[in-house]
Amino acid sequence: MTKKLWGGRFSKETDPLVEEFTKSVHYDHKLARYDILGSILHVQVLKKAKYLSPKEAAKLTMALDSLYKATVRGVFKYDAKAEDIHTDIQNKLEAKVGDLALKLHTARSRNEQVVLATKVYCKVELAGLIADLAAVEETLAKLSKKNEDMVIPGFTHMQHAQPVYLKDYLGAYIRMFERDRARLASISNNIELTMGAGALAGTPIPSAKYNVSIQGLKIKSAVNSIDAVSDRDFVIEILSALAICGVHLSRLGEDLIIWSTKEFDFVEIDDAFCTGSSLMPHKKNADVLELIRGYAGHLNGNLISVLTMMKGLPLSYNRDMQLDKEPLFNSIETVSMSLKVLSRLIGTIKFKKVRIEAYLEDESLYATDLVYYLVDKGVPFKTAHAIVGRLVRYSLDNKIEIKSMSEAELHKFSDKFKSQQILKLFNPKASVDSKRSIARR
Ligand code: ARG
Repeated sequence: MTKKLWGGRFSKETDPLVEEFTKSVHYDHKLARYDILGSILHVQVLKKAKYLSPKEAAKLTMALDSLYKATVRGVFKYDAKAEDIHTDIQNKLEAKVGDLALKLHTARSRNEQVVLATKVYCKVELAGLIADLAAVEETLAKLSKKNEDMVIPGFTHMQHAQPVYLKDYLGAYIRMFERDRARLASISNNIELTMGAGALAGTPIPSAKYNVSIQGLKIKSAVNSIDAVSDRDFVIEILSALAICGVHLSRLGEDLIIWSTKEFDFVEIDDAFCTGSSLMPHKKNADVLELIRGYAGHLNGNLISVLTMMKGLPLSYNRDMQLDKEPLFNSIETVSMSLKVLSRLIGTIKFKKVRIEAYLEDESLYATDLVYYLVDKGVPFKTAHAIVGRLVRYSLDNKIEIKSMSEAELHKFSDKFKSQQILKLFNPKASVDSKRSIARR
């Protein structure tokens, strides 16, 4: 292992297995650029507090800036032997500016460094996810527009229920993703960027000197330093919002998987978004959607993992909290990738009109419309419901379509039935357009 940020009070080298066990640089290197931003901000504070001369501050800022630029250019190489990314950056800074770098840690602890870096990482990544969600909503809206007038059988309990517009079905997912987007935006807005907590007890620097900013990120001094280093609510909120989003993604995946089966055959998913079988040459599988559905399990697991890790922790910082990062990164990367691939997949979907129209022939889809018909003629709803129920039973038992029953036959159930009028009810478009309660946008 390379140089540590501590060690003075130790009389022995750390056991190599402990070094391996406690390390986090192999994943927290993803925070590199945000940790560097935090250090640039800390230089501003130290300069204000006169712990650093303007010249020293300028020199440190320049060195930090060059490290920052390396992260942006993608040429920053983390040292796999460092304990964590904070240690690695400190060591790199010492290599650049020598002993001056030793002053950077004045009134500072990794306990708060890691919180600030993680919070900035979250704000940046949430902005990306919000854009990814908007892109999915847009492709869904385009698909709806392309099939503006298409009616499909609607399901409850996976049984034929009532006809619905495809645009409303897809619109339901648009609503879910809108809520996901709003949730993430509100979580991001609520993330407070603070400094001045030190390890837990605050620092000798007056709170006003922590009013610094960089790249539009405004820092305030922590209202409660103990809470500042102990709080991981923002991580749990994000994991929760992403688990919910994962549920939405999984349900959409499942709908499309079912719709692409031979049994349903409602949709064609483009070859570019399916995979084959090594054994069965005819296979075209919706693996992408299956993985999106499967990843919902990871997303739930990540939420439970951090909730459980946090639940028994005494205040303030405990090393357990280092373990929030892998689930956090994993959920963010999983949802981001799922949204990106889903957006492209949706762009290729074709609905099979002829097939869907054949399913719309099923009379049971219009049973509720028959009830409304009777209600409009003054029959109480429950009575009408029972009448149509008996009519459906009769139709099934005798294998006669309601459509082809004579008026006399219909009158056995209710004398309100007029064949001419009833025929018009078995029409998908008429059925969906008779529902006037929907405040479509
Ligand atoms: N890598 C650590 C984390 O992610 C940094 C904090 C370590 N602090 C300490 N006092 N040991 O939480």
